[in-house]
Amino acid sequence: MFLSLCLVSVGLFLSLPGVVSGELEPVPETEGLFQELRKKVNDLWQNLLYPQFIRDSDWTAYATCEMKPSSKLDADKPQVTGQILFKQSYPIGKLEAFFDLDGFPSENNQLGRAIHIHKFGDLSDGCNTTGGHYNPFNVNHPHHPGDFGNFYSKEGKIRKYKSNLSATLFGPYTIMGRSVVIHEQEDDMGKGNNKASLENGNAGRRLACCVIGICDKNMWENKFSKFVERKKRGSQNEHRSRPN
Ligand SMILES: *[C@@H]1O[C@H](CO)[C@@H](O)[C@H](O)[C@H]1NC(C)=O
Ligand SMILES: *[C@@H]1O[C@H](CO)[C@@H](O)[C@H](O)[C@H]1NC(C)=O
Repeated sequence: MFLSLCLVSVGLFLSLPGVVSGELEPVPETEGLFQELRKKVNDLWQNLLYPQFIRDSDWTAYATCEMKPSSKLDADKPQVTGQILFKQSYPIGKLEAFFDLDGFPSENNQLGRAIHIHKFGDLSDGCNTTGGHYNPFNVNHPHHPGDFGNFYSKEGKIRKYKSNLSATLFGPYTIMGRSVVIHEQEDDMGKGNNKASLENGNAGRRLACCVIGICDKNMWENKFSKFVERKKRGSQNEHRSRPN
């Protein structure tokens, strides 16, 4: 994309009359055109480098993924819903994610459940059409950018904040438009001694999935501030109930 833009701008530049005829000084009629053209090319670069979605929100990108049970899932399996929110400041911030999910069995001491980014944002056949793990650098599991590891539910919910993630919302490897899949089983983190372990961690069936899309800053701020408040209250209660 960048290369073709380069070629287009070089092409436009070369087709300016003054340049084509070899004159270095722009003739007066072409000067205005040249300025206009230069502005257009700059705006194009500007829009590629700093897309509107971060300019509107203090140079930070926000994304959401609205989790739904797979349409291919048996009715007796956990029906997981909720959201996964993403935040990343431009241009060198690391990705943060907030997992806010419901619908797991309410008994505690459940096994971990793997959560990964998959290649396609295609839910036409439930989570079955999301493809394998998103693996732009062709490496083994668990080194894919969207290998988020295992999550443990508490009273049927997962509420988890993660930072310093290696997936990104920016540039050619953006996760925008790809999917997040919650699996039925635990991720073996590549230690299963078989081929599937190095591809998908043997995490089993796909319970639920969603497509990652751009969202408003308010979405993150509302959900995340509630989570932080709950955490604060939780740790205060812990302190109070602790014997001196
Ligand atoms: C963030 O992750 C990188 C590896 O991706 C690691 O080298 C670094 O120590 C991490 N930073 C923090 C603060 O955990
Ligand atoms: C979808 O994938 C599950 C395994 O995860 C499989 O049991 C099921 O048959 C698949 N459904 C279709 C329609 O391919």
